[in-house]
Parts: sequence; structure tokens; C-alpha cells
Amino acid sequence: MDFGIKNRLSRIFNPKTGKTVMLAVDHGYFQGPTTGLRDMKNVIPLVPYADSLFVTRGVLRNCIDPKTDTSICLRVSGGPSILGELTNEDITTSMEEAIRLNASGVGMSIFVGAPNEDRTIANLGRLVNEAERYGMPVLAITAVGKDMARDARYLGLACRIAAEIGAHFVKTYYCDDFHKVVEGCPVPVVIAGGKKIPETDALQMTEDAIKAGASGVDMGRNIFQSDNPVGMIKAVRAIVHKGASAKEALEIYKKR
Ligand code: 5RP
Repeated sequence: MDFGIKNRLSRIFNPKTGKTVMLAVDHGYFQGPTTGLRDMKNVIPLVPYADSLFVTRGVLRNCIDPKTDTSICLRVSGGPSILGELTNEDITTSMEEAIRLNASGVGMSIFVGAPNEDRTIANLGRLVNEAERYGMPVLAITAVGKDMARDARYLGLACRIAAEIGAHFVKTYYCDDFHKVVEGCPVPVVIAGGKKIPETDALQMTEDAIKAGASGVDMGRNIFQSDNPVGMIKAVRAIVHKGASAKEALEIYKKR
């Protein structure tokens, strides 16, 4: 890996812990004004607590303070909405744009076992080819269709494919036997939070994922849809970077 990729990755993964708390706020790219992100002003107080913000160029340009110290990981895929065929994604944002926006990484979804798996995986290969020309790390997101099982066998398959195609890190969902997903994937794995669940459960999932070898989180709804989003991101940080237990982190979440 060359200097540029390593240097950008060190803006996403805290060099002191080797882990990351990414705040995912890209949901509008196919869901429109998602609960908690309708007014992006709600996100602003959370940004300083994130190592990296996972965001589209539209929100970045219009809603985020360019003076932020938080690094940017840019979602560069899209196409379909929740009303269409979700797997039908393409690359929507150029590498030139990612560099102009001073992104530290770019991310796109692949749809393993779904209608457009071959095209989305081939697109990942093309994105990696282009990104490596400019020293830009690529995050592959293993999107899971409604009918797919979220188990270690399927998620392990999807993560391994993403790494084999050249992704520098991978985002997937937590599942039982998550250590098998991590062990089978030669690049760092971070977890998405998924649908909003009670804070105790989301913090327990974070603790379990870190213990199973996850390199952090790229979490959205379980932070920005919480009744105390700042408390929640601080709590997640304590688990990821300080090795706090879910029980200890819950006390951080409860503080106003
Ligand atoms: C959507 C995404 C989201 O960034 C990802 O799902 C993380 O958000 P959440 O924690 O809300 O699941 O990639 O495709």
C-alpha cells in the first residue's frame, strides 16, 4: 500500500487504537429524508465525535462545515430509490470529485447473491483501479437484500469477495459467529448498526463486534435516531476506542 492510501486510512482509523467510529449519514441517497436526517442540522453536534463521516457529496457540500476536523468517507454509489430495484446501483461520483472534496475514502455497495451482483462487484473492481491511481482507500459495503440470511456464512462470503476484488476495508452487519467473518476477511471489517434497536442492545452489539475482531463501526440510525444522539456516539466511542463494556457505555449514553 502506498503512502497516500495509508495516510488517508489514518484519517479514518485512529492510529492510536487502529479502530474507527464512522458516523453514517448517507441514508438519504436512496431513502430520501430518513427519520433523524430530515434536517441535517441534527447531525452537526455529532460530527466532532466521529473519526469519519460517511456521507454523499450533496449533503457534504450543503450541510457540513468545511472547517471540520472529522475526515470524510464519500458514498460514491447510487441510482435506485426505495421505490425501485435497490441492487441496480452504479458509481455516481467521480474520483476527481472525491479528491476535490478532500475525501479520505470512498465507499460503495455490492449486492452479493442479488440480481445485480456481477455488475456491482465489477463496479467495485473499477472503483479500486481508479482509486489506487490517486491513493484513495475504498470501502465496500455488503448490502443485504430482504431475502438474504444475515449469517456468518453469507456475510463472510460477501466480505471476502469485497476484499479479493481490492476493497481496503469492508462494512457489513453483525451476526452470530462474527469472528468467522473477520477471520475470513484479510482487510479491516467495520459494522453497520442496522435498524434502530434499544440503546442497550446496540451497545451490546458494538461490544460483541469489537470483541469478535471488528475494527470499528460505521453506524447511523442507532446514533442519530437515539433520544440522546450525542450520548450514544460518546458511548459507542468508549467501547470502540477505550474497550469499555456495553454496561459502562450505557452510563455514558444516559448522561445529558
Ligand atoms: C446504507 C448504508 C448505511 O451507511 C449503513 O447501513 C449504516 O447505517 P445504519 O447503521 O443506519 O445501518 O450503507 O446502505
